[in-house]
Amino acid sequence: MEYKIRKYEARDRARVRWICCETGFMGDPMEVYFEGREAFADMWSLYWTDYEPESALVAEADGQVVGYLLGCLDTAKQERVFNKEIRPKLFGSAMRSGVFFHLKNWRYLYRVARSSRRGEFNEPRDRVHAEYPAHLHTNIAPAEYRGHGMGKALMLEYFKYLREHESPGVHLVTTSRNRLALKLYYGMGFQDLFRDPLTCYDHVTDEPLEKIGMGMKL
Ligand SMILES: CC(C)(COP(=O)(O)OP(=O)(O)OC[C@H]1O[C@@H](n2cnc3c(N)ncnc32)[C@H](O)[C@@H]1OP(=O)(O)O)[C@@H](O)C(=O)NCCC(=O)NCCS
Repeated sequence: MEYKIRKYEARDRARVRWICCETGFMGDPMEVYFEGREAFADMWSLYWTDYEPESALVAEADGQVVGYLLGCLDTAKQERVFNKEIRPKLFGSAMRSGVFFHLKNWRYLYRVARSSRRGEFNEPRDRVHAEYPAHLHTNIAPAEYRGHGMGKALMLEYFKYLREHESPGVHLVTTSRNRLALKLYYGMGFQDLFRDPLTCYDHVTDEPLEKIGMGMKL
């Protein structure tokens, strides 16, 4: 399959948001557990497309964008921007997306609160951000474009960019259900930084899940 890896441009934004939603449940559409595409895309792609577009890459095939790698050089900064500027806007997009009218969303939000109480989101943030300050999110959709080397090509291009910016290390977070992704990440040299049970999807999965944080020195 012929494809091209290039820098993200503003005209790719809608397509990136679509891919984000199409892959939002570990490679399947997010509607498995959540309704409201605008709010979902704001949560999972807005920082990277609007606040740090220079660190984003896309994969193009058959004349359209079919994959992305959304990058970030400094995760601590991304968290500050998210908390100060994006989180307050999320309530508006949640209202516009009708998020609070869906029982499905309340079921999920209840489980997120429960996971939080159980300490499932207590990653070793400070250590990870200090040693592996960059991070990435990568997804490809529709599914027929997976397994043709685009994921690997996006990552190699991103690593080049990170080295140019003298980044000491990069991390990512995935789950035990993202099997192709795990194969790719271990193959590229990532190693486990933490593994924790993740129970907020237990109503839509038939297997116990683990959240897996991985890192790689550059
Ligand atoms: C994860 C993802 C981005 C990887 O991109 P990709 O283009 O499919 O992956 P690649 O084709 O570059 O494959 C990379 C490696 O994975 C393996 N792989 C990929 N597709 C495979 C398939 N269909 N069967 C078996 N192995 C496969 C290969 O071993 C390959 O390694 P190699 O170069 O040594 O052969 C993509 O599959 C995807 O979007 N998956 C669903 C969403 C997801 O899980 N995203 C990650 C969120 S953390």
